[in-house]
Amino acid sequence: ELGPYPHYMLKEIMEQPETLRTCLRGRIDRRDGRVILGGLAQHTRLLARAQRIILTGQGTAFHAGLIGEYLLEDLAKIPARVQYASEFRYRNPIIEDGSIIIPISQSGETADTLSALREARDRGAFALGVVNTVGSTIARETDAGVYLHVGPEIGVASTKAFLGQVAVLTLISLYVGRRRFLAEADVARYLEALDQIPDHINTITQQSDRIRDVVEQVIDRDNWLFLGRGFNYPVALEGALKLKEISYIHAEGMPAAEMKHGPIALIDQGMPVVFVATRGSQYEKVISNIEEVRSRGGRILAVASEGDTNIARYADFVFEVPDVPEPLQPLVTVIPLQLLAYHAAVLRGHDVDKPRNLAKSVTVE
Ligand code: F6R
Repeated sequence: ELGPYPHYMLKEIMEQPETLRTCLRGRIDRRDGRVILGGLAQHTRLLARAQRIILTGQGTAFHAGLIGEYLLEDLAKIPARVQYASEFRYRNPIIEDGSIIIPISQSGETADTLSALREARDRGAFALGVVNTVGSTIARETDAGVYLHVGPEIGVASTKAFLGQVAVLTLISLYVGRRRFLAEADVARYLEALDQIPDHINTITQQSDRIRDVVEQVIDRDNWLFLGRGFNYPVALEGALKLKEISYIHAEGMPAAEMKHGPIALIDQGMPVVFVATRGSQYEKVISNIEEVRSRGGRILAVASEGDTNIARYADFVFEVPDVPEPLQPLVTVIPLQLLAYHAAVLRGHDVDKPRNLAKSVTVE
């Protein structure tokens, strides 16, 4: 089953172009510039009139949810908030009329996420599942849903499921957005870009060996930072989580601007700092953040847009990703970070598919 790959995690990373194609198949009507989501067809009015959307999940699913929050506000103009399922469940949550909860889960069995879903439904929320495992408990207990269709994920560290979660949340945001304020031409433009992402991912996974060579140069360092802004802030969180869970290197992710408010004190000579610094509305701000780190001796690893010749002046190492519209950037920027974590773990001699202390699904609260 592993084919040419030494680990499931690498197989699942490298196969993401095909996986994403499967996830998107039949859901994009390029000719009419439409999103087709059978699971939502009966609920279109309810979704378009939503007053508030709560996204929930744990770990990687929470990071996908944070991207979903940005997407729903940006594309569908619905107030949206992501919350850790474990926190949401016990804070006596307020559910108003027109509230929708979106539980996000690969396994569909995560105890925290399941109990948040039950609590929200008991209080009257409509539940829309973003789940991978067909027929799982969370899938069964939602009112409607969109499956990821990324196939079973074997590696404990989630990679392709994250990609599927973000892709599905993008589709949902476009679907609802079109029924609110988003123009047909804009939807068509995003769908065209989305359709090309599998090919883009291919060009990134081809850089795997180079990413390994770069990681090798900083592999002795035990503390890393991951920084990004806007849609790439959740990607920074996800990059740090991936590194922690399989390489056991301590890493923190945060909004790039937050660094100045304390964590900058951590930066010393040679500390690896990974910036997600693609072209977009906050590019110049990210460059200033890079300069702040650099002047304190940090080593900069930057994920940047293809053809950005400027960034080489600031970064020690650059990983290029193709240019895509900002709301779609997480689908490409996360790929080098998955590879970075993978190679770091292998270089440190760890069992990538079975990291210590972790199970594939966490079925206790
Ligand atoms: C990280 C990881 C976990 C899961 C989390 C939720 O790589 O796999 O953080 O994302 O335990 O699991 P699901 O998506 O199954 O609810």
